[in-house]
Amino acid sequence: MNEITVDQDVLLLREELLSGLRKPQKTLPSKYFYDETGSALFEEICKLQEYYPTRTETGILRSNIRDIAAQIGTDCLLIEYGSGASVKIRLLLDHLDRIAGYVPIDISSEHLLQAAETLSRMYPDLMIQPVSADYTQDFELPAIDVPHARRVVFFPGSTIGNFTPREARHFLGHIATVAGNRGGLLIGVDLKKDVSILEAAYNDSRGITAAFNKNMLVRLNTEFDADFDPDTFRHRAVWNALHGRIEMHLVSLHEQFVHVAGERILFRRSESILTEYSYKYRPDEFAELAKPYFRVEHVWTDARHLFSVQYLRCVSRRRSRPA
Ligand code: AVJ
Repeated sequence: MNEITVDQDVLLLREELLSGLRKPQKTLPSKYFYDETGSALFEEICKLQEYYPTRTETGILRSNIRDIAAQIGTDCLLIEYGSGASVKIRLLLDHLDRIAGYVPIDISSEHLLQAAETLSRMYPDLMIQPVSADYTQDFELPAIDVPHARRVVFFPGSTIGNFTPREARHFLGHIATVAGNRGGLLIGVDLKKDVSILEAAYNDSRGITAAFNKNMLVRLNTEFDADFDPDTFRHRAVWNALHGRIEMHLVSLHEQFVHVAGERILFRRSESILTEYSYKYRPDEFAELAKPYFRVEHVWTDARHLFSVQYLRCVSRRRSRPA
């Protein structure tokens, strides 16, 4: 299978890392979670009793798949951002009418190719064009040379919640450009709910989320010449009601220096690195966020209103007419 790679600059990656660690509130980009170990840990998280999003989203897709297929229509080019486990995409591939092609986009190239090859064995007649790219940076989707009625982007898992609302809106603008005229977006959006449910989902009793969080440090040690001692950091996940988000932190247990990519970084006792935001939205808040680019056509949810799957249609942006 021919994979298209949109390359990343190593120097830019280094600069992105270090600039986050120089901030008053130190940060590390969430995308660094997903090396091989991290992706495996994330799959474990998805199976946890406390982590409701994956199970709930899959249930919503399954219960409403006919409705969803009707909304999307026939002959679409299906573009998936962050092609993870294949359960969800297979539901779509099994139920959409006459799919023109499937374009999985993922940051992890090996993972992407493996998944694409498995799918191409299961759907031998389907045109599959994997694209390896970091979609958190603006990138241009290579031209896909197959006739189709419209492009529909599939962005499941509430990964949109990793962005701040301002970044999320920018990203939705990018998706609208990719989807283009008559295009659509099928997106999973996690909903606001009781704090106890939210915090339990990010502080599981088996400590898998803690291991997932700390794995970021292990990865920096091997790939960016860092010398973190993961045992000197503690996992902390809290609901920030003011901003409507879960925040994941790694808290230094004592004062220490750590070296990263040739730079020395001081940690005070109890100082933290912010590793992830997971924003939650009420349906009206999300509609407002997407409004410059999309109209919400339908919101599907579960009986407990934990999670939502939404179909959005691109609004044709009005050109300003000369006076
Ligand atoms: C994959 C970004 C949707 O925010 O819930 C799970 C990642 N982090 N547990 C989320 C995650 C901790 C997840 N997303």
